[in-house]
Amino acid sequence: MTQSTIVFIGGGNMARSLLGGLLADGLDKTRLWVADPGEDQRQAVQARFGVRATSSNTEAARLADILVLAVKPQIIREVALELASVVQERRPLVVSIVAGVRSDDLDRWLGGGVAVVRTMPNTPALVQTGATALYARPGVGQNQRSQAESIMRAVGLALWVEEESMMDSVTALSGSGPAYFFLVMEALERAAVAQGLPETLARLLTLQTALGASKMALESDEELSMLRARVTSRGGTTEEAVTVLERGGLLELFAAAVDAARTRSEELASILGED
Ligand SMILES: NC(=O)c1ccc[n+]([C@@H]2O[C@H](COP(=O)([O-])OP(=O)(O)OC[C@H]3O[C@@H](n4cnc5c(N)ncnc54)[C@H](OP(=O)(O)O)[C@@H]3O)[C@@H](O)[C@H]2O)c1
Repeated sequence: MTQSTIVFIGGGNMARSLLGGLLADGLDKTRLWVADPGEDQRQAVQARFGVRATSSNTEAARLADILVLAVKPQIIREVALELASVVQERRPLVVSIVAGVRSDDLDRWLGGGVAVVRTMPNTPALVQTGATALYARPGVGQNQRSQAESIMRAVGLALWVEEESMMDSVTALSGSGPAYFFLVMEALERAAVAQGLPETLARLLTLQTALGASKMALESDEELSMLRARVTSRGGTTEEAVTVLERGGLLELFAAAVDAARTRSEELASILGED
């Protein structure tokens, strides 16, 4: 990995998070390139990270051992078709962070027989606390899997799925998940403000409680239901609140929400994959 040249196609938010993470991990900046048509974007990554940047995708791809596709889903087909001849010649490992685009489609647009790892990061990657699932197409070697994993680990947790169809559920869970937690936190904050707590106090207590609960769960071997039981004394305040939430159908509501997101993810993948 340290000897590999990593080229980012697209130098936007996600590419910058990954660049920041990789440099913090000690990667040599001379091994990193960014291709982006925007002059401002190029100047920004050069100034902030000291990496080289070009407006030409194909020129940058010619140098790549690892090609990270970090453009918006709407333009990935056009970008991949432009890169196909260089990819066929150079044969880099292709790591896609493009949401909702299937690896079969990418492989086809890139000319076929390409080592593609498809990943699904989430927005907390922007603060190096992301949760990313990775899927490797058949033919991706062990060393290439490790390379893809170390790139995504630079911005948080990185876990493999063995079937690409799981990516739709991953999208519905961790991809869209930050919004679910924002909504829950928003609801709690509003409820506390409605009871008369000052906004700043309500906000900070909400956020720290969410962080603390997550940290406790990550550091514990116990099931979530057990952790919940431990803070729910019989006849106490938490039991009252949890009963209201359960009676209101919270569990069923989340199941339906995640199901709706997965279905939409499948639909979008089919639309994006059309030739
Ligand atoms: N942000 C997230 O948390 C997140 C989470 C999961 C997955 N993703 C995926 O990550 C990818 C990148 O997202 P992002 O948030 O980083 O988007 P972004 O900030 O818009 O970055 C995309 C970059 O690509 C540039 N670009 C446009 N056309 C290009 C071309 N033909 N060749 C090369 N670069 C080109 C854009 O320039 P202009 O701005 O000038 O168009 C922009 O700098 C998306 O596919 C998204 O689905 C993002």
